[in-house]
Amino acid sequence: MKVASAIEGARAVTPGPDKAIDSQTTEILAHFKGEKGELIPILQQVQQRFGYLPEQAMKRIAEFVHVPPSTVFGIGTFYAQFKLVPTGRNIVKICWGTGCYVRGAPRIISEMENKLGIKDGGTTPDLEYTLETVACFGSCALAPVVVVNDKVHGRMTPDAAKKLIDKKS
Ligand code: FES
Repeated sequence: MKVASAIEGARAVTPGPDKAIDSQTTEILAHFKGEKGELIPILQQVQQRFGYLPEQAMKRIAEFVHVPPSTVFGIGTFYAQFKLVPTGRNIVKICWGTGCYVRGAPRIISEMENKLGIKDGGTTPDLEYTLETVACFGSCALAPVVVVNDKVHGRMTPDAAKKLIDKKS
């Protein structure tokens, strides 16, 4: 994703200053000295606290470590561990690696997209689910694999995958 479109995406969900984001960012920054080398650990803590990197927090971080905001947005965009928009409380990852692909991953992905009403990388409007595809979990013997909130489910079928969601609904 390009930095400009990522920034637009972040703006779409962060319409204005939020006192809670501001105070919690201040709380996190209090544990750091304001050095450039602290940028990634700070972003990791902010990501952990909010589940994504709010634009407002990224601007504060940029000032704190004395770098342009574009540097912070660039890092937030580059590393897969960081999200610029809120993610769901439940993260559903479907393996798209070769082993899973040949054993039926495409149907699982398409049925899960239909069930949740979102596409790969999307989040349901109620922030309950985020759907992602992943290259390979390293559990190819269990293909096709679906991971829900870090719990690995192997030898999935489209119906079994949908039941994982039903259990949580
Ligand atoms: S290809 Fe799916 S876990 Fe490796």
